[in-house]
Amino acid sequence: MSKVIVVTGTATGLGKATVDKFATEGWNVVATVRKTADLAVHEGHPQVKTLLLDVDDEQAIPDFAQQAVRQFGQVDALVNNAGHYQMGPVESTSMAQVHRQFQTNVFGLIAITKAFLPQFRGQRSGVIVNISSLTAEQGYPYSAVYAASKAAVATLSEGLSMEMAEFGVVVRAIMPGQHATRIFTKIDAASDIAEDYQAGIESFFAATPMTGSSPTVTADVIYQAVLDPQVTRVRYYSGPDSAAIPTAKRILGPQQYWEEFREAATGRPSALWSALVPAPGPEPLQRDV
Ligand SMILES: NC(=O)c1ccc[n+]([C@@H]2O[C@H](COP(=O)([O-])OP(=O)(O)OC[C@H]3O[C@@H](n4cnc5c(N)ncnc54)[C@H](OP(=O)(O)O)[C@@H]3O)[C@@H](O)[C@H]2O)c1
Repeated sequence: MSKVIVVTGTATGLGKATVDKFATEGWNVVATVRKTADLAVHEGHPQVKTLLLDVDDEQAIPDFAQQAVRQFGQVDALVNNAGHYQMGPVESTSMAQVHRQFQTNVFGLIAITKAFLPQFRGQRSGVIVNISSLTAEQGYPYSAVYAASKAAVATLSEGLSMEMAEFGVVVRAIMPGQHATRIFTKIDAASDIAEDYQAGIESFFAATPMTGSSPTVTADVIYQAVLDPQVTRVRYYSGPDSAAIPTAKRILGPQQYWEEFREAATGRPSALWSALVPAPGPEPLQRDV
């Protein structure tokens, strides 16, 4: 019988590519979207059932989990992908924006995970894949809150992987580099930014490439992470800019890595950094700020 995977946030981007990948590989998929208008987004795949879910709605999540299991009678894997991107200096970011960022990227992800854990623990099997980010590997200026939310996802995944090991449940964190998706057209941007910040923001954006990897790059890594027999591995890096990080950290050591990253992020990459850390993939990026 085909295995079953649940994927959140699948209307676009990495989530949609993940649904395409698993469906093409013969899996049954329970995909979630948050807008009724997107319910038909996977209609080309007959083995995909698309359900409505806003991961911010913690009250709805236990019922959603039961509904998800009922679709095919079992669940073998869960991909927590839904997320959004808050940007701006910390000083200019409202606490409502901070809460919104953590509600979707962290609290919603934890609530969904908790709703499926009894199922996975009971069946003594299951794989949970949490979508973190390259930004969890080091703080980024002007997206420090987003990076903090993704660092929470990565460390949560590590702790949870140890808790669930004795029950045969595997937990992964995916660290995608920059990908060309619609996330950058829906940025929750800080407002009322003091003039003092403008020069720093401009040099940061000038140093940020306007290309990214195709979402299929990360969908392939998620597929590998679900199937990987090495149960203790948590972090998987996708995209050339992210895949280079473990090696760069090993070669440079923590402090020099950090110093080199700081220079590169403000537009002054050293020759060594440029040799160690390639640009993101070649797809053109759309950004609304
Ligand atoms: N693109 C990158 O460079 C990159 C890099 C590292 C990590 N990531 C992470 O990858 C994941 C997917 O992002 P993406 O780049 O593929 O962007 P995307 O195309 O905007 O996809 C994000 C999906 O999450 C959904 N979503 C957002 N908030 C939600 C909520 N409260 N409840 C349910 N669904 C919600 C969106 O729904 P709507 O379509 O309704 O907005 C969308 O379908 C995110 O967790 C993101 O942080 C992305």
